[in-house]
Amino acid sequence: MSVKSCQQLHPLDSLATEAKVITLLDKMTLDEKIGQLSQLSGDGGQVSKELRKAIKQGQVGSIINEVDLDTINELQRIAIKESRLGIPLLIGRDVIHGFNTIFPIPLAQAASWSPEIVEQCAQISAIEASNSGINWTFAPMIDIARDPRWGRIAESLGEDPYLCKTLAKSMVKGFQGEYLSNTNSIAACAKHFAGYGASEGGKDYNTTNIAENELRNVYLPPFKAIADTGVATFMASFSDLNGVPATGNDWLLSDVLRDEWRYSGPVISDWEAVPQLVTHGFAFDKSDAANKAFTAGVDIEMASNCYLSYLTSLVSNNTIAIKKIDDSVKRVLTLKFKLGLFESATTLPNNQNNAMNLQHLSIAKNAATKSCVLLKNDNQILPLSKLAITNLAVIGPLADDGYEQMGTWAFDGKAHQSHTCLNALHAYAKDSFKIHHAVGLETSRSNHNDGFYEAIAIAKNADVALMVLGEEAILSGEAHCRANIDLPGAQEDLIDEIHKTGTPIVLVIMAGRPLTLEKIIAKVDAILFVWHPGTMAGPAIADLVFGAESPSGKLPVTFPRSVGQIPLYYAQKNSGRPPSEDKYLALNSIPVRAPQTSFGMAATYLDIHFSPLFAFGYGLSYSQFGYTNIKVMNKLITIGSFVEISVTVSNIGNFTAEEVVQLYIRDLVGSVTRPIKELKGFQRIKLAKGKSTEVKFKLHTDELAFYNRHMECKAEAGHFNVWIGGDSNATLQAEFEVTDEK
Ligand code: BGC
Repeated sequence: MSVKSCQQLHPLDSLATEAKVITLLDKMTLDEKIGQLSQLSGDGGQVSKELRKAIKQGQVGSIINEVDLDTINELQRIAIKESRLGIPLLIGRDVIHGFNTIFPIPLAQAASWSPEIVEQCAQISAIEASNSGINWTFAPMIDIARDPRWGRIAESLGEDPYLCKTLAKSMVKGFQGEYLSNTNSIAACAKHFAGYGASEGGKDYNTTNIAENELRNVYLPPFKAIADTGVATFMASFSDLNGVPATGNDWLLSDVLRDEWRYSGPVISDWEAVPQLVTHGFAFDKSDAANKAFTAGVDIEMASNCYLSYLTSLVSNNTIAIKKIDDSVKRVLTLKFKLGLFESATTLPNNQNNAMNLQHLSIAKNAATKSCVLLKNDNQILPLSKLAITNLAVIGPLADDGYEQMGTWAFDGKAHQSHTCLNALHAYAKDSFKIHHAVGLETSRSNHNDGFYEAIAIAKNADVALMVLGEEAILSGEAHCRANIDLPGAQEDLIDEIHKTGTPIVLVIMAGRPLTLEKIIAKVDAILFVWHPGTMAGPAIADLVFGAESPSGKLPVTFPRSVGQIPLYYAQKNSGRPPSEDKYLALNSIPVRAPQTSFGMAATYLDIHFSPLFAFGYGLSYSQFGYTNIKVMNKLITIGSFVEISVTVSNIGNFTAEEVVQLYIRDLVGSVTRPIKELKGFQRIKLAKGKSTEVKFKLHTDELAFYNRHMECKAEAGHFNVWIGGDSNATLQAEFEVTDEK
């Protein structure tokens, strides 16, 4: 599972590059230097007079949002041939989960719990994007996301620091390859630094207040992990962190990132986040904003032009030292050298033929297959048997919509190139059964029930109703937060009506976030939660529905019963009065005029159970896995060594299937309180039916370390519980003890 560090530069080239950067820097005017710190938006397939002039004058270091290859080549040509120093451009794009081939949204990829799949998706994305001239992506987004109302949870790798950091390392490796200078490598970007996922109330761009201990133990570890393994760039968050917007936060960007972590790549602002320091009420005007962002540690300004307009005067009046400008420019130039742009910045047009080839599509299909999570499967209704079906009713607005299945941030995917469920089911059925399709609702948000009649009619005559419902793409992603995360529009009513027909319902849910499903769960026989699976949604879902593959995705985020439970995540602290079944029951049936302190007295609500609807790590299979014989090889270990733990996993069902074996620990007593469970290892295994295997984990005490009250990251001596199982409710338990080094 370990990911090799992404070498950005061949070690022998490193010194030579430094020399080249310094030689170039010496030739640059102040304006040219500031130009390197400015990223402008492209003109959408053309080069405007203004942009041409700006590049010629050395006022642009990078471009965002240009994807037309000829235009990109022309932009590079102007930079190289017509600007005084011939410095090539960084060409940035949000390649978040695919370029032409769209892979499952990042949250779905996280549900695969497969570093290999995540790396492959990023690698193909990099191939397709770099063949279009792009050399920089603004991914991975590694904000820990514990609020499903937040639209950007779709772009995240879920709620857990360990899962997130493990997959983030793979994603960076996929984008950047072994060397950044490889033809198909693109620079990755760790975003949004930091704490953005904790936006109050799950509302985008909102304030975050995160105690330093929580920040360091939960929100920062994924960033630290990929800083250490060589992510090429960082992006500062839009959000306000404990009263100081991240874009102007010198503690975060300088003290932590540069001084503590020794991170050496460039930091870019988010889109127009520099002038937004004025809106935050943190800067007086744009000049002050430029000063605050730059001084805090933002090297490059994205999209707006405060740096271009004000850095010169801020240097002239000695507010900003030229040495600081030079340092930032060096970081940008070094990246350009590492990417090999000085050797070749233009891209050959014929490389584009490669996009969406069979290999890319098969990786996309595999990723989609492995990321679908089976939440319910009463009476083993799934997989469906072709032989047992004469008529299949396919109902719902998302069954045949190539656009919506791609999800958020799929700028460069084409709807007509998507393979929909309906198409794939037709291909599956051939002549063996009939498929009848009705949308039921025009869109996922629609409240008109005009389409119900047709949907009910086809359901009545069908053996099974396969409903493809959920959220259309625009309901998640940036600035698309929801206060109510039930199925939108009249979808619950549609389920009611189909339920009344008595035809069994298999519900396939496409969505960019966890949804609250309590109101409909009893009315359907099976739920396959497929997120937004991308280009190959249809073939992946058809394979799962008909049993060519067994579902093996596991939730990377907790599914609450109701929004009132949020924030709800598995790695909670115990509190002094943890909830329990009997306390909940007492509270739930509290008598009228009961004495104030007589019932329950636990950290739970009166009106809803304290458990989630589906726990972190949960996901059913068509088979069944038994966990037995947990063994700790060395029950007493010293700090600095490993504990080895093994378990026997048996496939006791009737299908050959994959399972994600998960290891959780609890540090029973800490100098600061520790979560009741923490994921510390996982392995995806494949087991034939009837077979057993021993799965081993090796855990270094560094993995048990956490930030204490003095903000030192240390493992502490003490007793630990360890659980191994198929989700975060795993009960098979063992213990070990850690003692201080002698
Ligand atoms: C988003 C970033 C993104 C940037 C460029 C911003 O609105 O927050 O994540 O990289 O736009 O598109």
